[in-house]
Amino acid sequence: MRRVTVPLVDRSYDVIVGNGSIAELPDLVPTSARRVAVVTQAGIPVQFREIGAYLPDHDVHVVEIGDGEAAKSLATIENLMRSFAQIGLTRNDVVVGVGGGMVTDVAGFAAASWHRGIPVVHVSTTLLGMVDAAIGGKTGVNLPEGKNLVGAFWQPSGVVCDLDALATLPPREMRCGLGEMAKYHFLTGDDLLAMALDERIARCIEIKAEVVASDEREGGRRALLNYGHTLAHALEITTGHDLAHGEAVAIGLVYAAELGCELGRIDRARVDEHTAVVAGEYDLTTRPPSGLDAAELIGLMHRDKKALDRLTFVLDGPNGVEVVPGVDEAPVRRSLERFLR
Ligand code: GLY
Repeated sequence: MRRVTVPLVDRSYDVIVGNGSIAELPDLVPTSARRVAVVTQAGIPVQFREIGAYLPDHDVHVVEIGDGEAAKSLATIENLMRSFAQIGLTRNDVVVGVGGGMVTDVAGFAAASWHRGIPVVHVSTTLLGMVDAAIGGKTGVNLPEGKNLVGAFWQPSGVVCDLDALATLPPREMRCGLGEMAKYHFLTGDDLLAMALDERIARCIEIKAEVVASDEREGGRRALLNYGHTLAHALEITTGHDLAHGEAVAIGLVYAAELGCELGRIDRARVDEHTAVVAGEYDLTTRPPSGLDAAELIGLMHRDKKALDRLTFVLDGPNGVEVVPGVDEAPVRRSLERFLR
């Protein structure tokens, strides 16, 4: 079992990684809690949904939410709040989010809002959740106008990453996690593929924990975790989510390298390295589907909530990956049109 600490000044917490780590859940639940509201989905494996087995002295209530981006909504939050009211969840109690990134984002936001904030513990059941979504306290829901537009920073009291959950994860969900994992290669240069899966997941969490600890509310450096995400968000929207998040991130990483090269920040060999890691080592698609329009994608990138000043990208360069605001549209258009061919 591996334990990674997210070192925040007054709210540090542990992430427990390993097979069977669900058994550590009681250690992460605050001692004040009597009632537990489990926020989960129908499809989550039963050994993770039925956490009452690990918390026999607690009053455990399971509340199911829907699947997919459409259910990541304010309507879902209202339904959850009404369930919390019926359960009689108090400020001393706890929410436990059991599922992938969508579930932990929603459960975290519900916990952040209920009685102006109660503790939340996440049990992450997908690779993407383990290496990204469940860690770092970003919570929220979508609006018809955009993804994750309503939310809060709300750090969990602890996170369980039980690798047993990956044994039954559909291949596409696994690929999505690999897309986020590929990102960490370029942030640190670590040879993650030389590591066993549990060590690699723990290392990705450690990298994320260090970045989050240095900039919890994304005043600057945390945006590095969005490497590959600027184009990825636009691709997700323009394909109506036919491309899942991690698949879009994999493509976005290679495009970010192409743009970095167009701007003279990196050479062709480094672009090829991006393609080799994403396509070769992680076996992910590196090119967008055919028929997409560069102008439409650029429009969507302008609307992305992270585009503060003209176009903001996270780009590789001589000093490593960094946030680059104010990128001119012309090189973006040139490199994107080539990329889409
Ligand atoms: N997923 C990026 C972040 O947590 O900041």
